[in-house]
Amino acid sequence: MADSLSVTDNRTGNTFELPIVDGAVSAMSFRQMKTEPDDFGLMVYDPAFKNTASCRSTISFIDGDKGILRHRGYPIEQLAEKSTYLEVAQLLINGELPTQVEHDAFRHEIRTHTFVHENMKKFIEGFRYDSNPMSMLISSIAALSSFYPEAGEVSSPEVRRQQLIRLIAKIPTLAAFAYRHTQGLPYVYPRNDLSYPANFLSMVFNINDVNHTPDPVLERAFDVLFILHADHEQNCSATAMRVVGSSQPDPYTALSAAAAALYGPLHGGANRMVLYMLERIGSVENIPNFIKKVKAKEELLMGFGHRVYRNYDPRARIIKGLAHEVFEVTGTNPLLDIAVELERIALEDDYFVERKLYPNVDFYSGLIYQAMKFPIDFYPVLFAIGRTAGWLSQWCEMLTDKEQKIARPRQLYVGKGVRDYVPVSER
Ligand code: SDX
Repeated sequence: MADSLSVTDNRTGNTFELPIVDGAVSAMSFRQMKTEPDDFGLMVYDPAFKNTASCRSTISFIDGDKGILRHRGYPIEQLAEKSTYLEVAQLLINGELPTQVEHDAFRHEIRTHTFVHENMKKFIEGFRYDSNPMSMLISSIAALSSFYPEAGEVSSPEVRRQQLIRLIAKIPTLAAFAYRHTQGLPYVYPRNDLSYPANFLSMVFNINDVNHTPDPVLERAFDVLFILHADHEQNCSATAMRVVGSSQPDPYTALSAAAAALYGPLHGGANRMVLYMLERIGSVENIPNFIKKVKAKEELLMGFGHRVYRNYDPRARIIKGLAHEVFEVTGTNPLLDIAVELERIALEDDYFVERKLYPNVDFYSGLIYQAMKFPIDFYPVLFAIGRTAGWLSQWCEMLTDKEQKIARPRQLYVGKGVRDYVPVSER
């Protein structure tokens, strides 16, 4: 049997052979199906792109039914256990795990680019103390582009590489500055003697201690959390990075759009919504009543469900285990009991089982962040730091993919036909 579809257009009786390549047929091959020679031809209609492959990619692989996630072929479980975020960043961007020499050089480059222009502090100080840190981060990422005018030369591999080093290095600094601004605390400058996660924790939590070194358990926990959030194929924010990046602005501008997409409560903003949900539930006894509201469509079970996973999100499983390690240091989070009982009930309840709703990456992460004393509104910022390497790897892959052009979807026009203007006196 050939790898092709035989399609008959019943309007004309014409039959077409559509090759099946990589498990898909080309949407453009439907344009030949016309009733008149000057017809536009057929389009395929796929709102929210639920069944549309927008690109070929070699970065991440997800099997939603089996709950599998791999980066460049390496299972997420192995990377979370054995790798570091900066090593995974190199893997995502370059396609291979680095040698020790390559990794040491990359780590040195990141460590020597963690500072931001002093004027960036003025942008951050322009926000009210109670501004949402995610809007501060999105704005300051976009503002960064004004300091690197050459960054728009996206066709140059050297320019692309220089900007991705800057972005991976500086986003934790911007995130920490945003946090310190909301707390009314002086900024803590990056320290190049610390690891990537330790430097971030030091910029956030250090209070005037020149020898501040974060707890190694929390340092490792953050490395793993950054790994688990690093990339997730063509999610909403990666798509935003690719779509905005396809018109070829500088990567700071494209990445601010990706972070904006991540901010939404249905995407990376879900981790904060989980905590608000758990706080609203308030106790294990109140769970049955909340579940009733979810079934009545009055509430979403935040941190549950996924467009691709129809099984347990492997990242959620790892984070759940990590939470217990962190709570050894920070003390447990009382909301954990509600989360665990909520998960137990949901995994047994037909309403969720039928809809294949399982915990996703956002369900447990917020409990760790709260135990580490991060404010709830800061959680999507923590997601964005980890996802930066993924957004940049997707951006580079898009720019170097010969099949890609500026993203410009079509539409099915179902509006009014032509009509003449009516003066207001006659309306
Ligand atoms: C992330 O894409 C990625 O890879 C994202 C991400 C990444 O790493 O980049 O994995 C990160 O964004 C994780 C998802 C975080 N969001 C949330 O936890 C918010 C809550 N989840 C839902 O909003 C929802 O599950 C989505 C948005 C995640 C997925 O929505 P879909 O694929 O559009 O599914 P759907 O809305 O069509 O739901 C199918 C059914 C519906 O019920 P019926 O109409 O069939 O009766 O399931 C129901 C939905 O109402 N449903 C939920 C639910 N999620 C789906 N019902 C209650 N609670 C939920 N969370």
